[in-house]
Amino acid sequence: MTTTLTLSDGMRMPAVGFGVYKVADEAAGPAVATALEAGYRLVDTATLYGNERGVGRAVRDSGLDRDDVFVTTKLWNDAHGPDAARAAFEQSVERLGLGAPDLYLIHWPVPSRDLYASTWRTLIQLRDEGRVRSVGVSNFQPAHIARIVDDSGEVPVVNQVELHPYLQQRELRALHAELGIITQAWSPLGRGAVLTDPVIGDIARSHGVSPAQVVLRWHLDLNVAVIPKSVTPARIRQNRDLAGFELSDDDHARIADLDRDERTGSHPDLVA
Ligand code: A2P
Repeated sequence: MTTTLTLSDGMRMPAVGFGVYKVADEAAGPAVATALEAGYRLVDTATLYGNERGVGRAVRDSGLDRDDVFVTTKLWNDAHGPDAARAAFEQSVERLGLGAPDLYLIHWPVPSRDLYASTWRTLIQLRDEGRVRSVGVSNFQPAHIARIVDDSGEVPVVNQVELHPYLQQRELRALHAELGIITQAWSPLGRGAVLTDPVIGDIARSHGVSPAQVVLRWHLDLNVAVIPKSVTPARIRQNRDLAGFELSDDDHARIADLDRDERTGSHPDLVA
């Protein structure tokens, strides 16, 4: 089972990370501490989440070496354009208090503002200055990726997108494979919605594991990195415990059939 993925810039990224979307700053610290104790070595936050301070404190207080924890944060939609992007990055670094983040992502392309190509060039500069180890994007559609690659000649190492059995993103994953971009899934559990699907339940029972474990293992089998979110310690632990079983070809075929282009979040073209 894949536990670490190699990014196109040579950096290594854990395949299973811990997401803290919508976790309040005060709650993020204990949740991240539980996750790090359970063995997670990737924490995914964003300026939008308002919890970079709590996340940074939990990583610092964990006693782990900074180099052993992969920390991702993201640039919010109001900070597109070279100057705003640089300022937003500095603020995230200050709030995290961890030195250089491992990965900095453009959170959404915001096509209505049409600044994402210059924002991307700024992220590349920050990386070249050694301020951040790797740079990537989130919620980019094929056209947005084509644009920044044409404009800068640099391919993002990661595109983090909504992806789960109800939104399997086949076209995008094929493009990522062609360009060497790692696909990372946000809401890998469809915000919990896919966990009550009868097919997932059936497969889970047949392996003696939980529906969440089936869905997360399915992602890893597709070489998709995941950042399941939970504030429940037992679930946090369970979501990383994915090695003791294998999905069969038949299981994969049944899950492939669940694709229905159903988003829990916004369509990237519409987020302003
Ligand atoms: P909670 O945070 O209360 O534990 P996603 O990562 O797809 O956005 O899904 C997150 C949602 O799924 C949260 O509501 C979370 O609930 C729930 N969840 C996370 N892990 C599990 C699990 N192992 N079993 C059941 N529900 C889970």
